[in-house]
Amino acid sequence: MANKLDKIISQCLSLRRLRQNPLIRELTLEHRVSIEQLIQPYFVVDGIKQREEVPGLTGTYRDTPSTLLKQIENDMENGIKKILLFGVPKEKRSDNFDPSFTTSQIIAIRKAFGKDIFIAADVCLCSSTTHGHCGILSAEGDHVENASTVYELAKSALAYAQAGADCVAPSDMMDGRVGAIREALDSAGLEKTLIMSYSAKFHSKFYGPFRIAADSAPKGALSLKDRSTYQIDPARPSDALESSIRDSEEGADILMVKPGLPYLDILARLSKKIHKPWAVYEVSGEFAAIELMAKQGLIQGPAAHVEAWTAFARAGASIIITYGARFAGEWLKSGITRG
Ligand code: PBG
Repeated sequence: MANKLDKIISQCLSLRRLRQNPLIRELTLEHRVSIEQLIQPYFVVDGIKQREEVPGLTGTYRDTPSTLLKQIENDMENGIKKILLFGVPKEKRSDNFDPSFTTSQIIAIRKAFGKDIFIAADVCLCSSTTHGHCGILSAEGDHVENASTVYELAKSALAYAQAGADCVAPSDMMDGRVGAIREALDSAGLEKTLIMSYSAKFHSKFYGPFRIAADSAPKGALSLKDRSTYQIDPARPSDALESSIRDSEEGADILMVKPGLPYLDILARLSKKIHKPWAVYEVSGEFAAIELMAKQGLIQGPAAHVEAWTAFARAGASIIITYGARFAGEWLKSGITRG
């Protein structure tokens, strides 16, 4: 009996050999998250006097145009070189949108930081509409019209690219928007502008803090209460695959899964099937969940964030969009996952 047990236990020891100390562990890691692969989101809001902290998202603000530039400068000192910009105009409309607030911010960022920064601009209408939906509502108010919305999205994307964005990132989930944006960019001689498509964007409950930051929750007495008629149902992985194949064929350079942690299976599956760079968006609700647990003393926040990023890399993401990018220099340096 004792002999048999000894034999079994000695076999088990072989895996712990590679876990025994930090140097061996760091030598044998298969994934290393680095600050170069992170994108920092920003919200810049028209018509506010002072910047406002976003609930749940530590260190993230609804910036004014001038605090935005200061924040970016500060973040660049901490190693951030890639940003995703969300412009929130003051004037809301239901049609014929005006992209000029966001274009002015892109121009200002480019002027201040030149080519030292990669600017991606989110393309959606939810921060610009009176009702908070991501496009133009039908006269009955019961659905978002596809064709007229795509026209407006292409108009905004072109304006952002002309203002100097390196990349436009449509997050609206209309059909055909990637092809329309590519066409608009190419016809204007902007062949070099990248398209990062939110190709597998799910109808998620994890967008709460973002909608406060971007002033973009569906509002008013609408018959269309949520985004389920344009975002992907969490129980429809095949829709995410079709949508990503379609966006890739229409000319998306970078594809995306969003949210991150609850959709790791999607990221793992799609990134194996479609060989383009994959981004993952660690969305506001999942970032805030870690922050709130950390504030309650229930987990170690920085280590938990790095653990989530590692999961994204493992599942096939080469790009991670996260509200914690500006802290990554600190969080990654301490080798948290290595103990
Ligand atoms: C806009 C958009 C959303 C997010 C990015 N772009 C929210 C939504 O679809 O309602 C979510 C990002 C986050 O939660 O951090 N369409």
